[in-house]
Amino acid sequence: MTGTFLQAAAMRARCLLYAFSIALTPLFPIMTVAATGQAEVDPRFTEETPFVRSSPVVVDTMLDMARVRATDFLIDLGSGDGRTVITAAKVHGARGFGVDYDPRRVAIANENARKEGVDDRVKFIEQDLLKTELGSATVISMYLLPEYNMALRPRMYALKPGIRIVSHDWNLGDWEADAKIKIAVPDKAVGLEKTHWIYLWVVPAKVGGAWRSRIPFDQGWVDAVLRFNQQFQKISGDVTIGRQKVPLERASLSGNFVSFRIQLGNQTILFNGQVQSGRIAGQVTLSGGRAFRWRALRS
Ligand SMILES: C[S@@+](CC[C@H](N)C(=O)[O-])C[C@H]1O[C@@H](n2cnc3c(N)ncnc32)[C@H](O)[C@@H]1O
Repeated sequence: MTGTFLQAAAMRARCLLYAFSIALTPLFPIMTVAATGQAEVDPRFTEETPFVRSSPVVVDTMLDMARVRATDFLIDLGSGDGRTVITAAKVHGARGFGVDYDPRRVAIANENARKEGVDDRVKFIEQDLLKTELGSATVISMYLLPEYNMALRPRMYALKPGIRIVSHDWNLGDWEADAKIKIAVPDKAVGLEKTHWIYLWVVPAKVGGAWRSRIPFDQGWVDAVLRFNQQFQKISGDVTIGRQKVPLERASLSGNFVSFRIQLGNQTILFNGQVQSGRIAGQVTLSGGRAFRWRALRS
């Protein structure tokens, strides 16, 4: 808790420092942001997320971790001067939009997009990020205080499997990141730790519960009930065949892709599949390397 408090304090301190650090970033003009009428703290939170810009190396790392490409649509929640969406468009060819509740930041971000020649692919909107519709995103980026991340979490978890979420410095509590990177920033202006954390999540398919399947065993196919326990992208479970129940081993879930293995007699059987609305379709591979199509249906 102390660490969290210190980091939040460092974020606020950086916010003040940036307001005085004119002309450090030629590409993006610095904004001196005074409190606006709209910058009142949402009653659900103890404080508002201050304006602190992500440094270019952080923006690049976030976009690389999310593997942003031309087919992507990025939504940046709390877009500040627009640098994340603009870089996604300029460097990776993506489209997208950013939202910020400060109209002056929105105006500057739109002006930056125009100057960088990407205003046909990105736009910035004055809007509360907590009310922003997220359904069109393939990638979501954010640099917010932790309680905002947590407020957004249920809506992000409910998004389509495979959508990537990247966050600068703050995580999503017990929804563990699929990947995280610590970046050394020796010239970081404030804070004891001269580092930034970047976190990546891939929205997982919802697989918890029972599935009916048939699996190859003993020269034939046998009926099986597959059961997954799911905690975000972490899965465990078992397969029941007749009276025999065996645990899933090395079970993993990334977006729509599920894989696990089971030990049945002296056979190790490997399953790989793609989850799609109540069905899993993929492949089952036996110890000797023989592979078959594999299907499972929700019970
Ligand atoms: C830490 S800054 C990050 C700016 C930019 N994304 C970056 O990484 O450089 C957070 C931004 O979120 C905006 N913000 C905070 N709460 C918001 C809300 N409820 N709705 C919209 N924007 C918000 C702030 O105005 C600020 O520009």
